[in-house]
Amino acid sequence: MRNLIDILDFSTEEIDGLISVANDIIENPDKYREVCRGKILGTLFFEPSTRTRLSFTSAMMSLGGAVLGFDNAASSSTAKGETVADTVRMVSAYSDIIAMRHPKEGAPIAASRVATVPIINAGDGGHFHPTQTLTDLLTIKRKCGKFDGLTVGVCGDLKYGRTVHSLISAMSRYTGVKFVLISPAELALPDYVKEDFLDGRCEYVENPDLEAAIPTLDILYMTRIQRERFSDPEEYERLKDSYILNAAKLKNAKPTLSILHPLPRVNEIDVDVDDDPRAHYFDQAAFGRYIRMALILFLLDTKGVDDRRISGSENPELECTNPHCLSRTERGIKKLFEGEKCIYCDQRAIRK
Ligand code: CP
Repeated sequence: MRNLIDILDFSTEEIDGLISVANDIIENPDKYREVCRGKILGTLFFEPSTRTRLSFTSAMMSLGGAVLGFDNAASSSTAKGETVADTVRMVSAYSDIIAMRHPKEGAPIAASRVATVPIINAGDGGHFHPTQTLTDLLTIKRKCGKFDGLTVGVCGDLKYGRTVHSLISAMSRYTGVKFVLISPAELALPDYVKEDFLDGRCEYVENPDLEAAIPTLDILYMTRIQRERFSDPEEYERLKDSYILNAAKLKNAKPTLSILHPLPRVNEIDVDVDDDPRAHYFDQAAFGRYIRMALILFLLDTKGVDDRRISGSENPELECTNPHCLSRTERGIKKLFEGEKCIYCDQRAIRK
């Protein structure tokens, strides 16, 4: 059985295949209307969502399947103290595939260790969001026609922005991709993302000056400052308007620039950018439905195939100190490490 926990669970060839199917669905929707008749998607959203949950729902309904689930942990037995593992064991019995979003990093890995159906990570804390990346890659392929050789500016909350972490890990596999990391120092990209996906693999520069960076970019990927991840509300207030893109700031941008944003936006893109032909963020969100249709078809077809990701071993000398990691709060979870890294959140563990 295959899962999608991390975008690197899929090879670049498999991603190309998903993009081809998504493009075919866009061209020939009638061909796909009944292909999941009798199948059920479980959507377990322990955190708010508009695009991801509704595009998954729309995707399964557009394939002829049905959807069950919850959009709020408070309306599930989580509110009574049930673990993620027990919740997922149960929903595995009621559905054929599960998409889950959880505020704790590593929750989808814990789920995949007990599930009997494929698990899709629909966002885990400030860690990864691989189905947003599939959406981003479909958008880039349709708007830029290629992945190789692009200069990609990622701007805003690079610390907690899970969409950025997954996008960087995916794009760093292509040839000649350069990243410009545009953030305040307090919201810089975490070390594990730099070490795993950039250092020694991909050219990148850190440049906090958005306007100076814009003329060099093929893609500008704006992100929201993630208020819900801040432990200090005053720090959020200080940083929330660090970057506001508007039409005036685009005057020296390339005519071929693609402006992307995973959405929701707060203040970081002024509405005066929306009519710019280079603003693709609403198309990007719409494409999410088609790539998620392709993903559901792919994962339902790979039942019976061994997942490559289940790994890690216990090490009583190590401790994950990431306060946002599920392994620190979930009862009965095996604390697993690969080398010195926690397998749930990818952060370096400390020796006790
Ligand atoms: N891009 C994204 O994940 O949006 P939602 O939070 O609305 O699902």
